[in-house]
Amino acid sequence: MSVESQQCLCFVVLLIHTVIGAGEGPTSTTATTTRIEQNELTVSFPPLEDLYNSTPEKHFATENNTVVTSQTGSTALLPCVIRNIGDGIVSWIRRKDYHLLTVGLTTYSSDQRFQAIHLQHSEDWTLKVRFVQKRDAGVYECQVSSHPPTSIFLRLDVVEARAQISGPTEKYLKPGSTLRLQCSVVQTTEAPAFVFWYHNSRMINYDAERGINVTTDPAQRLSDLLIPAASASHAGNYTCVPNNAVPASIYVHIFNGENPAAMQSSSPSPFGFEIQSCLFLTVTRFIIQR
Ligand SMILES: *[C@@H]1O[C@H](CO)[C@@H](O)[C@H](O)[C@H]1NC(C)=O
Ligand SMILES: *[C@@H]1O[C@H](CO)[C@@H](O)[C@H](O)[C@H]1NC(C)=O
Ligand SMILES: *[C@@H]1O[C@H](CO)[C@@H](O)[C@H](O)[C@H]1NC(C)=O
Repeated sequence: MSVESQQCLCFVVLLIHTVIGAGEGPTSTTATTTRIEQNELTVSFPPLEDLYNSTPEKHFATENNTVVTSQTGSTALLPCVIRNIGDGIVSWIRRKDYHLLTVGLTTYSSDQRFQAIHLQHSEDWTLKVRFVQKRDAGVYECQVSSHPPTSIFLRLDVVEARAQISGPTEKYLKPGSTLRLQCSVVQTTEAPAFVFWYHNSRMINYDAERGINVTTDPAQRLSDLLIPAASASHAGNYTCVPNNAVPASIYVHIFNGENPAAMQSSSPSPFGFEIQSCLFLTVTRFIIQR
């Protein structure tokens, strides 16, 4: 008798039991329910050799197609929890080039940033990627050896954290006025450990005696630079450098009088206008011709 016809027969017997059982009062209903559960188990797990195998079924506890987002420079952790792994061995494979990264606790890749993390008696085989780079983005496969091997896939998204100084990229101030620069770290998945401020090439976080006050709130991903009375010596390039994000710069002009030369130099040149109108005419002509 084939497996299918056995299953079919089983199902018919089960149906009869259910129908008969329904009329026999509450006690036998319970007994029938138990039998249904047992029968369902035998019916829904072919092949037959598995029926007599008492070891619990191996399965992934990490959701398939999980997405992990990490910022560049940080450490990414791709989880892979497997229940009842038995003597199965876990491998991590980078899908974009089928590069074998780890087998068990051994790193196979020449790139030592990849490492499988597994504590004894745990069911977790996390892939750890240190100093995440943009090129690490993509799909990773956590594969367990069995016949056939089973896998789940995780996607690593990489964001590039960067500093951002609020306001325009150039600032114009009169001597004696207050210079306040606010730097926020955006697109982050983890707070910066520290934020350095540079005036040209000098690090100024601790230059209190030069009238500079830096306050950083890492949890809020914010750093403020305050100079209560700016003087000509405070002019120049200010750069906000978080330890784990792309820096941002702003140029500060300190000028006397109403109409600084610096402001005129940043106005658009007459050539710029001519080129723009020429381009506009060309595009217009192109559209009309069509
Ligand atoms: C996970 O999903 C992929 C398709 O995205 C599938 O091929 C694979 O069999 C799934 N793994 C498990 C354990 O369900
Ligand atoms: C620096 O600025 C903060 C607020 O931005 C203020 O609380 C602190 O007293 C200032 N420190 C100095 C030395 O001026
Ligand atoms: C300001 O300094 C930063 C870092 O040194 C540099 O990348 C940037 O080009 C400088 N900007 C100006 C306008 O000099």
